[in-house]
Amino acid sequence: MKLLILNGPNLNLLGLREPDIYGKRSYNDLVAYLNDCAKELGTEIEVIQSNHEGVLVDTIQAAYGVFDGIVINPAAYTHTSVAILDALKAVSIPAVEVHLSAVSEREAFRQISYAGMACEKTFAGYGFDGYRMAMEHLVHKLK
Ligand code: DQA
Repeated sequence: MKLLILNGPNLNLLGLREPDIYGKRSYNDLVAYLNDCAKELGTEIEVIQSNHEGVLVDTIQAAYGVFDGIVINPAAYTHTSVAILDALKAVSIPAVEVHLSAVSEREAFRQISYAGMACEKTFAGYGFDGYRMAMEHLVHKLK
């Protein structure tokens, strides 16, 4: 089983960006955490981060036939990108949405999630643990 973990814009600045919201741990810490989770769950992962919407769309398209599941934190593109929603629908790979912060308790403009409309589940507000929950969901479903 192979999972794609896809992270959107500004997540590369974890640790630096608004640490009161996103925590003090860095993006490298997140990648290390994801690799540990993958080992525990006995699954292969590839972790990709991009600040560019088109790269995220290309990466989702390229996942077809390669990955069994997608864990996606589209970051700010969550709230704007019909293109990411359409790409997830096009490949039809089981996907789970993750947000580090509790988006439902934040600004009005964060209350819509386009990508979420193509995801079977959303884990928001659990910090790094949300990614583990998403991976667990996919591993149990796909086994
Ligand atoms: C985020 C929430 C988004 O609203 C925001 O734009 C991000 C990060 C999160 O992980 O909490 O960049 O996706």
